[in-house]
Amino acid sequence: MTRGDILYSGKAKTIFLSEKPDELIVSFRDDITAFDGGKKDQLEGKGASNAGVSAFLFGLLEEAGVRTHFIRMEDPITMRVRKLNMIPLEVIVRNRAAGSIVRNYPFTEGQYFNPPIIVTDYKDDTRHDPMLNDDIIVALDLLTHEEIDAVKASALKVNRVMKAFFDGIGLDLVDFKIEYGRYGDAIMLGDEISMDSMRLWEKGTMKSMDKDVYRFEKGDVMEAYHAVSARITGSR
Ligand code: ADP
Ligand code: CDP
Repeated sequence: MTRGDILYSGKAKTIFLSEKPDELIVSFRDDITAFDGGKKDQLEGKGASNAGVSAFLFGLLEEAGVRTHFIRMEDPITMRVRKLNMIPLEVIVRNRAAGSIVRNYPFTEGQYFNPPIIVTDYKDDTRHDPMLNDDIIVALDLLTHEEIDAVKASALKVNRVMKAFFDGIGLDLVDFKIEYGRYGDAIMLGDEISMDSMRLWEKGTMKSMDKDVYRFEKGDVMEAYHAVSARITGSR
């Protein structure tokens, strides 16, 4: 693997150029942050845990016909991906109420949403990721109305595939955030799908197995992350 200059260093990953102009190298670091970077730590093994789960889920989604940026793992923390022109949207799918939707609206924690709710936030930490509606997305030139429909249909498919998978390993997929980017004329799934970007509750107990353990100091974060990785590995 040839790793070139750093293209971007975010809160949890560093993106490097590769020897190919249309491919990037993503390094998953052990950094963990919450509350717009207000809470920060380093947890040994966190990068590898998230990279492994992301790679697995991208593979599962590709098998189901969802196009993703994933090419292959180069080592346990290093992923080779297609270089996308990222669309600054956080597409959030919610099967149950938790987090900001409970803080901002009169929903009860754990309440089921059937059909699932899709929320689109503007990815901009300085503005605290404000929620968008379709007209604002079009006015900002992020997507056309037709592309919004396609992205929402894709997000619901991602939800169906992942929810069924997690059901099978005793975990409830409460909600998750995904990001899309442009690759030529195509729009495909980028970034990561990991315990940092999903809420997973143990079935029956509603015990958090995701970044909420870190956000709200609910216990040993890495124990939760390793438990999810182990269940996934055990399912293969
Ligand atoms: P953040 O920017 O939220 O702090 P990260 O530390 O996870 O997040 O940094 C990863 C960055 O790389 C994000 O801004 C994400 O949009 C971007 N990214 C993810 N996948 C790709 C890709 N395939 N091509 C280009 N950029 C990507
Ligand atoms: O964390 P908070 O309660 O503020 O956010 P949310 O809107 O309830 O988050 C919904 C889902 O998206 C959760 O699984 C978050 O982990 C994820 N998310 C994310 O990965 N990155 C963000 N910037 C915001 C949310």
